[in-house]
Amino acid sequence: MKLWGGRFEEGPSETFQRFSWSLHFDRRLFEADIAGSKAWARALERAGVLTPAEAEALCGALGRIPPPPPDAPDEDIHTYVIRMLRELAGEVAAKIHTGRSRNEQVSLDTRLWLRGEIDRCAGLLRALMRALLAQAEPHTATVIPGYTHLRRAQPVTWAHYLLAYFEMFWRDHERLSQARSRVNRMPLGSGALAGAGFPIDREALARELGFDAITPNSMDVSADRDWALDFLSAASILMLHLSRLAEDWILYSSDEFGWLELADGVTSGSSLMPQKKNPDSLELIRGKCGRVFGCFTSLFMTMKGLPLTYNRDMQEDKEPLFEAADQLSASLEMARAVVETARLRPEPARRAAAEGWLVATDLAEALARTGVPFHDAHQLVGRLVLESIRRGRQPEDWTGEELHAFDPRFTPEMARLLAPEEGLKSRAVPGGAAPQTVAAALSEARRRLESLS
Ligand code: ARG
Repeated sequence: MKLWGGRFEEGPSETFQRFSWSLHFDRRLFEADIAGSKAWARALERAGVLTPAEAEALCGALGRIPPPPPDAPDEDIHTYVIRMLRELAGEVAAKIHTGRSRNEQVSLDTRLWLRGEIDRCAGLLRALMRALLAQAEPHTATVIPGYTHLRRAQPVTWAHYLLAYFEMFWRDHERLSQARSRVNRMPLGSGALAGAGFPIDREALARELGFDAITPNSMDVSADRDWALDFLSAASILMLHLSRLAEDWILYSSDEFGWLELADGVTSGSSLMPQKKNPDSLELIRGKCGRVFGCFTSLFMTMKGLPLTYNRDMQEDKEPLFEAADQLSASLEMARAVVETARLRPEPARRAAAEGWLVATDLAEALARTGVPFHDAHQLVGRLVLESIRRGRQPEDWTGEELHAFDPRFTPEMARLLAPEEGLKSRAVPGGAAPQTVAAALSEARRRLESLS
């Protein structure tokens, strides 16, 4: 069955059908299409187009339509639903499309579907954030090396590091909510592009379908997909953050770093090398990040330069949208499983923070506190580091007396700063890495997360 044809002398060629039909993917909009069609039938009743009995018959039949079987011979999900409606409700089905266009219907269905996916992804993201906080809980004072340029930089704590990701994910959650608020506008009543020619109560439709408001312009509805791009953009940034967490943990759990242990359940062995324990779960998250960026780019390119309003190009919005939502939710679930089961190894982590002069800044700042200008202090500690490298010494190999002998501006008690835990304590500014500050930040993060759910 086709929804058009009167003006044609011949039907579509087989090649064109194969090329343009979309039921094999837009079947995912089935439930949304049924919900939207039921609401439309009631709107037509309120507008005096359908009698109550007709609306009732249509809604009843819509409720009995099964999901499309794999071999359904229809152009798209909207056409399938209308064909089935005709089979189940008879002649009255021909009235359902009064004043309605597939251009607004596809916008409605995709918005309904996407709203549900955003809620699902936001829930998975909150679960991941909870796992991060649980991982951080026992480690507000556990020292790890912090890196810049992937070189050991300054000591931080494991909880402080994890809270950095919590903040990124917090903003991702905000971005998802903002995308949701733009998705959650009710487009029905827009017609093909110029607005319905029947007195449709659009506000009632919005309430019935759980939308925050109606869309304000019918041409905008047929033309735009920026609300889908909002989601794809939020999804891309979230995947970017996941890919960085994945990369960090691949490194930290390697033999070269050696201070993070990934659970057996999220790693794989090698078919040849018996000793291997590979971080495939994290590598796949990193890999899927590229796919989601591809989805965003794909729709971005599709929409560029399209003349107003609807163009069939826009049918190409759905596959990247579905794909991005699938890859994002799968990656969020995987990341949560990795975070829940990973184990920090505090001794090698401390060793990595104690070796390599991460405490150099602490020493320079201690000198500055005694009145040595910071640039001079920097220079002096730099010389101490160079001397240590020459002599193969690590910070904790120096005694207070040796420091003082190296340069009298070092006082013997400054030697306590050669332990990575010491200097951390002074970083008590809000947002800093001092254990007390981190413990407070952790409670604050927990409070914020609870306020979301
Ligand atoms: N399958 C189409 C889509 O996804 C539905 C809208 C069709 N509208 C049209 N004018 N051909 O965009």
